[in-house]
Amino acid sequence: MKKYDFRSDTCTMPTDEMRKAIFEAKVGDQGYGEDIETNNLEEYCAKLFNKEAAVFMCSGTMSDQVAIRCWTNSGDEVIIDESYHINYFQGAQSIDLGKVILNTCKTSDGIIHVSDIKERLNSRMHNGTFTKTKLLSLENTVNSHGGKVFPIDVLKEDYEFCKSNGIKVHLDGERIMNACVATGLKPSDYAQYADTITLSFSKGLGGPFGSIIMGDKDTMIKARKYRRWYGGHLHQSGFMAAAAYYAVTHNVERLKYDHDNAKLLVKLIKNNKIIFNDPETNIVMMNIKNLGVKAEDFVDKCKEKNVLLFPYNEYIVRAILCLNVDKDDVIEASKIINSVIEEFESEK
Ligand SMILES: Cc1ncc(COP(=O)(O)O)c(C=O)c1O
Repeated sequence: MKKYDFRSDTCTMPTDEMRKAIFEAKVGDQGYGEDIETNNLEEYCAKLFNKEAAVFMCSGTMSDQVAIRCWTNSGDEVIIDESYHINYFQGAQSIDLGKVILNTCKTSDGIIHVSDIKERLNSRMHNGTFTKTKLLSLENTVNSHGGKVFPIDVLKEDYEFCKSNGIKVHLDGERIMNACVATGLKPSDYAQYADTITLSFSKGLGGPFGSIIMGDKDTMIKARKYRRWYGGHLHQSGFMAAAAYYAVTHNVERLKYDHDNAKLLVKLIKNNKIIFNDPETNIVMMNIKNLGVKAEDFVDKCKEKNVLLFPYNEYIVRAILCLNVDKDDVIEASKIINSVIEEFESEK
């Protein structure tokens, strides 16, 4: 029986065209800078984001952790929202690899304003021998808040405030193309307000591997060094770079289809006990607390009926729309999800 996979946009599979690009890739040992596809991808992305240089990374986590390492020293502080991936999922890595203190904002929507930064700066001593705030880490789109687009005017204000206070800005832009498609803005529009920015090839863009970090030349020389330190010294990476290049040159515009499907999913799961985000991009968050059931139990029941979802926390169930599902799948899966809701309601 068919499975409807809404767990994550990381679960996509390479298409036949992408597999052809992988098969035909011109590879060399990137340890010697000889991998043509990887060099081509890095040049293409640096240009697209209007940054001096780019470094191909094994994963979004590697991009983020390398960025932290580039901008901070052991014991420095990073201001971040508690909901962002670097805190919520990578907290251990940030402390163990980055050796930084994450000073977390608790915003209601994942959008950090200058007032939130000031509040964090005043939350503890930073003078004299105390920790120094070196980095503001932002996320766009915001995964935990249903793929919310980080407004560019707020990003500009944050960036300008940080610049005048000696704080660098890292933008975890793993889903930045979703933000671009939703707003009509260009990647370089967002990148101008970040000292480093990342992009994932293996989420909505449908590639099998990798992420890229962009920034100024000197920082990217450091990023290449720390990638190696973190075990990411690449050799015939062109197979993966060719897939990534295919993803970023073919699969951006189609993200609109995923965004429309996210809206459709919310529309079709009609239940006033469930609180949904109003999806701006490809992520649907369902707060099922009022159903009186925990996210893991709800997800298990849906899985029995071949709909795969992700339990984000105790009561939040996440569905991500991507290449894995088309409009008909959304219609069929929503019927199944509605039947699970009815089952839980009748048990009460
Ligand atoms: C916003 C964000 N940043 C970083 C990551 C980490 O990416 P990866 O799984 O490639 O390490 C993810 C993963 O889903 C993410 O959603």
